[in-house]
Amino acid sequence: MDRTAKPEALQGLIEKFEDRTARVGILGLGYVGIPLAIAIAREGFPVLGFDILKERTEQINRGESPIKHFSDEDIAEILAAGFEATTEFNRSGECDALIICVPTPLYGSREPDLSFVRATMDVIAPHFRAGQLLSLESTTWPGTTREVLLPYVEGAGRMAGEDFFLVYSPEREDPGNSEFTTRTIPKVAGGLTENCLAAGLALYSAFVDTVVSVSSTEAAELVKLVENIYRAVNIGLANEMKIVADAMALDIFEVIDAAKTKPFGFDAYYPGPGIGGHCIPVDPFYLTWKAREFGIHTRFIELAGEINASMPQYVVDKLVEALNAAGKPLNGARVLVLGVAYKRDMDDMRESPSVLVMERLRDRGADVDYSDPNVPVFPAMRSHRFDLASVELTAENIARYDAVMLLTDHSDFDYELIRRNSAVLVDTRGKFHRDGGVVRA
Ligand SMILES: NC(=O)c1ccc[n+]([C@@H]2O[C@H](COP(=O)([O-])OP(=O)(O)OC[C@H]3O[C@@H](n4cnc5c(N)ncnc54)[C@H](O)[C@@H]3O)[C@@H](O)[C@H]2O)c1
Repeated sequence: MDRTAKPEALQGLIEKFEDRTARVGILGLGYVGIPLAIAIAREGFPVLGFDILKERTEQINRGESPIKHFSDEDIAEILAAGFEATTEFNRSGECDALIICVPTPLYGSREPDLSFVRATMDVIAPHFRAGQLLSLESTTWPGTTREVLLPYVEGAGRMAGEDFFLVYSPEREDPGNSEFTTRTIPKVAGGLTENCLAAGLALYSAFVDTVVSVSSTEAAELVKLVENIYRAVNIGLANEMKIVADAMALDIFEVIDAAKTKPFGFDAYYPGPGIGGHCIPVDPFYLTWKAREFGIHTRFIELAGEINASMPQYVVDKLVEALNAAGKPLNGARVLVLGVAYKRDMDDMRESPSVLVMERLRDRGADVDYSDPNVPVFPAMRSHRFDLASVELTAENIARYDAVMLLTDHSDFDYELIRRNSAVLVDTRGKFHRDGGVVRA
């Protein structure tokens, strides 16, 4: 038997990827799906975007970007190239490749919530046809593609690797990082079979410069978790070192900046008011949950989670100390929080530690306001509520507060203005770390 012979369905699909005629469906038009749709459409592929939110698809079809770091021009460009957003999931049958990038959060019990992935599979599976490639990009536990997706795919005469192709390829998008693009971030892919991987490589290598293949979907799933656990653990370590340095009256930012001059064996991670976003606080617990099935307790993950989760309280305690030194109780104090998005120059507030700090301050009687150039009005959140709008940063406004806390160091803040006009300035980001009188937290 000729081992290099490819099934006809695979050959046809690869040819469509090579000549850019394959129609690609992106399921979930969020922080991951939008840049992916843009990158694939720019490569000349016809792209169809799916989302359950009608408002979102209508907004995109009007030429408005739903995400701050992509412009309306980016959206207009792909619309002109034929891109369309839709809520009609029966149209998934029109696509040669389907890429799933829907949310994978945790339940309150910290168990994986795969309901969005399952809901997507429920609506697209009835429209599967021979010759399609399905790729899961949502972050998840090792085994998901085989355990959860495969049963939807097989049956009705379809067989993975013969006439239907299934891959897992983790998303490595770093929102707001202008050094890298979808094309220049190497992409990892694992297939359910060799033919599945071949189909995945043909798709991804059309719009990504480097595609790294691994031997299974499980390996690809674990790659993503290891990357994010590495970050969570190192941030936890940096936060612990901050507490130690502070007790010794040392500045952790000065120490890390000097340590990182070592040209090998040290990667700089920085402390902060906690961890936020859809990934770092969430993904490690996908592995904790799965590892339990193998009788393994993931101690590093738990410990880093514990340290990182204690940071909002640590930061509040530093503020209380500083106010106390100024003869003021927290109860009744006016506090201005700078930065409510979880990350510099972003508008994303998911799991933002700033919100947890604000809640703790409010619970203890402080009068809390915030300023964030990227979040003009405090949005409706599932479990947090503040009826607030961003305070404009003027000298008079800053001076009205008993304390100012820098929680997210956006580039647009005028740091000199903040330093000059704050009565008490608490800095969790090392922005003012060489300035006397600033409270390091
Ligand atoms: N945001 C990041 O930086 C990042 C980076 C790497 C990986 N990831 C992973 O990518 C996945 C998506 O994350 P995101 O940040 O893009 O989420 P997001 O919330 O920004 O976007 C998800 C989109 O999916 C839509 N959606 C929900 N259910 C759907 C369904 N059944 N069918 C179609 N659309 C549906 C939502 O309406 C939303 O528009 C997650 O697994 C996440 O862990 C995210």
